[in-house]
Amino acid sequence: MELQLIVLSGTPGTGKTTIAHILSEATGIKWVSLGSLVKDKGLHVGVDVERGSLVADVDRLVSEVWRLACEAGGRLIIEGHYADVTPKDWVEKAIVLRTHPRELWRRLAERGWSESKIRENVQAEILGVCTYEAIEAYGWEFVYEVDTTSKSPSGSAREALEIISGGGERYRVGRINWLRQLEKEGKLEEYF
Ligand SMILES: Nc1ncnc2c1ncn2[C@@H]1O[C@H](COP(=O)(O)OP(=O)(O)O)[C@@H](O)[C@H]1O
Ligand SMILES: [Mg+2]
Repeated sequence: MELQLIVLSGTPGTGKTTIAHILSEATGIKWVSLGSLVKDKGLHVGVDVERGSLVADVDRLVSEVWRLACEAGGRLIIEGHYADVTPKDWVEKAIVLRTHPRELWRRLAERGWSESKIRENVQAEILGVCTYEAIEAYGWEFVYEVDTTSKSPSGSAREALEIISGGGERYRVGRINWLRQLEKEGKLEEYF
């Protein structure tokens, strides 16, 4: 079966789970959280003690995604931090959610995370790690970015929907550059 997966990636707190849910309701396409799959089905090979996170068993995770996607008729929205494990041939589009470091810090603090864990994730967001990884995995022409900083979840979901529907030219990578923005504001040192 030919798969057409929509990958939703992004630093924790950028809104993947929230947007996946809304998108799924709007399109009728089923969604799955890779993080939950790893946890609920025991698809891990170990624990990253330092980060307190599970190390995914990539082969079993990919098989499970295949199974679920086939079950769903070939289309599936997959969200999560492990998103770039999905084979390129299965992916129709990858949407990376981005959030301004100040707002992301606020959202992660709300989760009660430690300062060091927040800092590590906000730094990754500033450097655009998820975008970089998505481009590495799928090629830049398949990757789009949606800024969730000062929009409502439904507003951001609408932008993602625009991308899925084929009108995503203005969401191509290259517009969002927190590094440059923070430098201009003289705020970069606050985060490193
Ligand atoms: N435009 C937006 N898009 C998505 N989430 C948003 C937006 N604005 C605020 N939020 C909030 O940010 C949080 C994102 O959390 P979540 O969806 O769990 O992110 P992730 O799955 O990427 O870790 C939620 O509390 C959500 O309500
Ligand atoms: Mg989530």
